[in-house]
Amino acid sequence: MRITIVTAFPDLIRSYLGFSVVGRGVSSGALDVRVLDLRDFAEGQYRQVDDYSFGGGGMVLMAEPLARAVESLDDQGEAYVVCPTPQGVHLHQELVEELARKDHLVLVCGHYEGMDERFVEEHVDLEVSLGDFVLTGGELPALAVLDSVARLVPGVVGRMEAVRNDSFYRGFLDHPHYTRPAVWRGIRAPEVLLGGDHGAIEEFRRDLAVRRTLERRPDLLARCGIMGYLWGRFYV
Ligand code: ADE
Repeated sequence: MRITIVTAFPDLIRSYLGFSVVGRGVSSGALDVRVLDLRDFAEGQYRQVDDYSFGGGGMVLMAEPLARAVESLDDQGEAYVVCPTPQGVHLHQELVEELARKDHLVLVCGHYEGMDERFVEEHVDLEVSLGDFVLTGGELPALAVLDSVARLVPGVVGRMEAVRNDSFYRGFLDHPHYTRPAVWRGIRAPEVLLGGDHGAIEEFRRDLAVRRTLERRPDLLARCGIMGYLWGRFYV
């Protein structure tokens, strides 16, 4: 899979790639990640990428450099263009899985007050939001999308089994985890995890994951349509 990130702050993305599991995945060849510097597609001595918002309000990324950057990828097969913005659909694991099935994902980072809407209308397939809060730019959310998608690509995370068991796999929150020492400040880790009965461990973890999801995020269970299963398991 290929992921291209279009940004006015390429070093921010590159530094992340230099220190992360995803970066290791890129070095090993499991994943192809490229960073396009928006300024390389700008005109003039100052390589301007932003300008004042018509009607007042801060700086807005101009449509032309953004369009040129995305169009420079035209000869590289079908690209799916995603733009992180608080106005987008909320990101969740099923959407991440859908994005991971694309051959070429292009993440376009906004900045300042955002980007010219005409570019969005012409080139962006999907706007995604990390939640109802505002960040100073699209780089952090683009990295969040990159990271969540990349860990689903075989070869990026060592143990695919760990990926499959993580939070949101099958719609549940993750179960709690424990590590050594078995007794920490007088608190003992659950006994079943210290033994070798894998069936019992699996059942224990699943029960805790379900209970946690019921307590903290019942909305997730409703989405999976498993309320019946839960009520049957715990309350009958
Ligand atoms: N850009 C700025 N804030 C954002 C958010 N909450 N989600 C996605 N992109 C953003």
